[in-house]
Parts: sequence; structure tokens; C-alpha cells
Amino acid sequence: MPGIQRIILIADKVKDRVRLPAHLKISVYKEDDVLESAIRLVGQREKRNLWALFFLPLEEVARVDSFFKDFKITEVAHVSVAFSGEMELPHNSPLLASILDLRGSAISELESRFLIDRAFRDMEQQKLDAGEETRKQITLVDTYHDLESLIDIGKSLTLEKNSDRLLRQILYLSKKITGADAGSIYITEKDGRGGRRLRFKYSHTFSKELAYEEFTLPFDESSIAGHVALSGQVLNIADVYDLAEDAPVSFNRSFDQTHNYRTKSMLVVPMRNHLDQVIGVIQLINCKETGEKYTGNEAYELLLKEPQDFEQGVVPFDSRYENLMQAVASQAAIALENNRMILQIERQFDEFVKASVTAIESHDPATSGHSFRVAAMCVNMAHIINLQKSGPLAEVQFSETQIKELEMAGLLHDFGKVYIDPGIFLKGEKLYPHDFVYLKLRLSYLYRSMELCYARELLALKSQPETTVREKIDRLQKDGEAKLEALREIMVLVTELNKPSILNEDRNVLIQGILSQAPGLECEDLEGSHIPLLKREEIENFKIARGTLNREERRIIESHVEHTYTFVSKIPWPVEYQQIPEIARKHHEKLDGSGYPDKIQGRDNIPIQSRIMTIADIYDALAAADRPYKKAMELKRVFAILREEAAENKLDGELLELFISEKAYTTGKVESLQRS
Ligand SMILES: [Fe+2]
Ligand SMILES: [Fe+2]
Repeated sequence: MPGIQRIILIADKVKDRVRLPAHLKISVYKEDDVLESAIRLVGQREKRNLWALFFLPLEEVARVDSFFKDFKITEVAHVSVAFSGEMELPHNSPLLASILDLRGSAISELESRFLIDRAFRDMEQQKLDAGEETRKQITLVDTYHDLESLIDIGKSLTLEKNSDRLLRQILYLSKKITGADAGSIYITEKDGRGGRRLRFKYSHTFSKELAYEEFTLPFDESSIAGHVALSGQVLNIADVYDLAEDAPVSFNRSFDQTHNYRTKSMLVVPMRNHLDQVIGVIQLINCKETGEKYTGNEAYELLLKEPQDFEQGVVPFDSRYENLMQAVASQAAIALENNRMILQIERQFDEFVKASVTAIESHDPATSGHSFRVAAMCVNMAHIINLQKSGPLAEVQFSETQIKELEMAGLLHDFGKVYIDPGIFLKGEKLYPHDFVYLKLRLSYLYRSMELCYARELLALKSQPETTVREKIDRLQKDGEAKLEALREIMVLVTELNKPSILNEDRNVLIQGILSQAPGLECEDLEGSHIPLLKREEIENFKIARGTLNREERRIIESHVEHTYTFVSKIPWPVEYQQIPEIARKHHEKLDGSGYPDKIQGRDNIPIQSRIMTIADIYDALAAADRPYKKAMELKRVFAILREEAAENKLDGELLELFISEKAYTTGKVESLQRS
């Protein structure tokens, strides 16, 4: 075997007991201390390829063995033939493993020839075994590294939520683990005619700064990537310039010529999704050799500049990378599919939320745009809070997901209004229009009835001699006119009482004034039913001090929060949007417990998102010009009302001041939300 030096060392003490064959082509050393000579010989040889056969006394075996035990069997091998003297070798001695023979007497020439042959054959076998072992170890280490890379890739791909960054990550990791100099990534897309195309999404060449643009390729044999996408098979090409004429694929050299590059080895793998469909292709170019088998990192960082770099530095992709890259491509495909599905779900949620908001808006056109404006103001506030470097809100940080969650909650906060009779929202006066018309008709009926009544009485009196009824007629005309005048006044008064504005006089006093006249003005209809001046419900509504809603209507409107909560809770939100129902439910709670529906008290019990929303909600209700009973209020007045509420510990004062000072209410975002 080349490079191996075989030696025989015979200890002086046993030299008389060994008779070596004549014409032996092996160096023989007969010395007092055979180990000393072995050490000297090993030290002289750079590569230490030494095979030694010792003939020595049994008591020296342990010393020799312990010296050689630190050497690899591939570097130094030895076999000892020991001769026992006074010492007896124990039956189960570990030394037996390295002792070829144990003899009490001398050995003949024939026996020594046999022993030498057997010893060196034995050493050769040991080396072969060790070689196999080393190969196995290398494979094991490769496998370990591959697995490690796969786990790392799996982890990092799962974490990346941005699709573009994910593609770059996939390509970067693929190049790194295979030691490829360049690579491209293609994604399958529909071509609009029921077919598929490959979109060249991203490319990177380590040795060269190359600009690239997106383009598409047909899903066919006209390109290597197209072929792989179509066949679904891995392609591992040692040199693309050596492709046979009849090969299923051909290589277009124009890229190389334009960019002064030499594409040589290529590994192209399809990315398959869970349905086994090819959703893309990873194309790796020019595997770089470093001399070290499993240092992809170092290989990756070698630069290919000159023609000889490509000739000497580029090797075919090892076949183990085919399997490894298929595994990477599967992980990449899963990550891409996950991202696509997440985006799809987000889009679906967005669409769903927008559709829901449209439903609210059409249900209550009076507050058109309110949900969009509240959502936009909430988002503004979250961004403003994120910028705070000092003060009580400096510690609060909203992630992008939390901002999205807040936006969704803002858009849906009033969704429960769709469960409420839209007439309540449109109620612009104390009575619904039809109720007011009925009241006026009733009063008109009373007026006409009274008019008729007096006319009849007058007619009856006029049939009598004038001198006897003169006084009666005068009184009747006076009374009748006064009552009719009273009814006309009542008609004017109820019109005033019906208005939502604040009156100069106390409503209760006015109502009492009307009711006090009832005995003389009320009458019965043709069926004998009593016709009142004012009905109980009308009195209740006219008594409403502010706005147009009575207690029951207010309760119904307030129930929108619980309807919102019930509806929004039923939506299977992704885990990061779990707080939406809670945030929306609390948008009418006040810090002092005077809000609804749960009368929650204290800042700690109302999430900051809801506290923000409450401010935005009230601001919009006051500042918007879209309520039926009010015009847009001046900002100064709006802020004064909001500050008053904060002073009464109803609104969060710190949030309110930030809302006002940073103008969170001016939202360019509003239009973009409404447009999208
Ligand atoms: Fe609300
Ligand atoms: Fe609202």
C-alpha cells in the first residue's frame, strides 16, 4: 500500500525466540526498548502512516498499547506478539485484542512468516474497517448538518410573514447550504386563460452585482425552470454547456454573454405545495468547492471572477443536495402557501369587515362614514402613542397587528346598530313624523268638533227671539272663540314642543299648561271614545330634555353595544385579533362607571384601545354634521365638551390631550380607508 511503512520491532529480551524468514522486505529493528524506537519512527513521519509488528515480552504490551491508543488506526497500526515469562496473562485481559499470539516458547521461521503475513493483513483490514467507519461518520455528519439546516430553515421561514422577504430568505438559505454562487426563484401564477406561467421573482449572484427584473416564462420545455415546473422532477446538471443535443432541456447562453458570467453546474428543484402542485421553482447555479466537505457557508462566500475561477472553483452539485433541496423546497412551499393563505384570510376579513360597515352605514345613513372615521382616528392615536418618548404613554407600544386589530374593532364598533329599527336613528323630533301628524289631526278634529258644536248651539239660540237670547249668544261666541283660540295655541305649542332644540320655557310647565285646558277642550268621537288633547306617550316624548330619544329608545340604541359584541364574538378571528369583541364592547364605558353596558369603572378595567375609541366616537358624534338633529359643532366647543367629560373622570384625560394636541382627528387615512 503506498505511503505505508511497515516495520518489525523485536525487543532484545525476546530476540532469541524469533527466527525471521530470510529476504524479508520489511525493516526490522532489534533494540532494547522497542517502544522508544517506535516513538522515534512515528515522530519522523509526517503523515505517520506506520504499521508496526512488535515481538516483545508480555509485560511490555500494556506500555506499547497505551502509547498507540491515541493514534487513529488509519495513521498508526500495530500488532504485538508477546512472549510470556514469569507473568501470566489473565484470561479476560483487554490486551488480548492487540495481541496476535501469545507464546511461551520460540517461534520458527515458518511460524514467523505466517505471523508477519497475518499481522499486516490484520492491520490492513483494520484500516479498511476504519475507512468505512470514517465514511459512515462523514455521511452521518453530513446528514446531521443537513437536518440542522432544514430545522433552521423551517424555523426562519415560519417566522417570515412578508412574502417578498420570504422569497429572498428561501433563496439565500438554499444557496448557503449548497454552496451555490447564484440562484433564482420562480413562482407559478395563472395566465388568465386557464394556463400557468412561471414568474421570475428574485435572483441573486454572490460573485456579481446583477440587476434583474421580473418576467414570466411559459410552463413548458423552453426553459430549464419551465421544464422542472412541468415535469416536477429535480434536475442536477454538471455543466449546462455540455448538455447533449437531444437533452430534454437546453441552456440559453445569452445571460452569460451579456454579464460576463459562466453558468456551469445547476441544481433545479420544484416547490410543491400540500396538494402536490408545483407552486414554484428554485434554481441554484455553480456549486463552489472549498476542499472541506460540509462548509457550505465558506463555499458560498468564495468569489468567482476570472474564467479559471469558474473552471477550478465550480463543481457539480453533490447528489445529496438533491434530496436536501427537495426538503428545503417543500418547506419553502409550505411557508409560501401559509403566507398566501394568511394574506387571503386577512383579505377576506378585510372584505367582510368592509361589507359589514357598509351594512351599518346603509342602515343608519344619518351617521354615514362614522365607523370609518372612528377607525381612522383610533389608528392615528395608536401611531401617535407609539411615538411618545416621555410621559405616561411612553411605555405603551402598539404592534402592527394590534393596530390592525384596533382598526377592525373601530370599523365594527357600531355593527350592532343593524339590529335596531332604523327609524330610531332617524328620529329628528320628539315624536316620529307619523305620530306628530296623528296628533295634529286629532287636535284639528277637536277644533272642528268644537266649531261645529258652537255653530249648532248658536243656530239653536238664533231661532229664539233675539231679546231673550242676546246675552247667551254673546257669551257663547266669546267662550267658543276663546276655546278655539286655545286649541290654535296648543297646535303652535305642540309644534314647538316637538322640536329637539332647547326651549325658552320649561317643557313641563308648557305641558301642564296644555293639560290644564283639557277639560274644556276634549270631547268624544262618533263611537263615544274619549279624545285627549295629549296622549301619555306624547307627553313622555315632549318631556325629553335633550335630543329626541326617550328612555326606552335610548335603551334600545344602547343595546347596539351588546349586539355588536354578540355578533363580533361569533367571528372566528385569528388569534392575534382575539381582543376585537372586548374592545368594541367597551367603547361606551366611562371611567367613572356611568357608561354602558357594564358600567365598568376605572382605567385598569377598560382597555386603552376602548378608551381611545370612546374619545374618537364622541368627537365624531359632536363634530360631524351628519346627525338629523344637529349641525357640525365648532371644534372649540367640541374640545370643551370632551375636556369637561375628562374633568368629570369620564374620559381618559391623557389620551384626550394627545388626541387634541396631535390632531388625531384630522385623518387623511379616513379617505384612504373609505376609498379602499
Ligand atoms: Fe356606539
Ligand atoms: Fe360609534
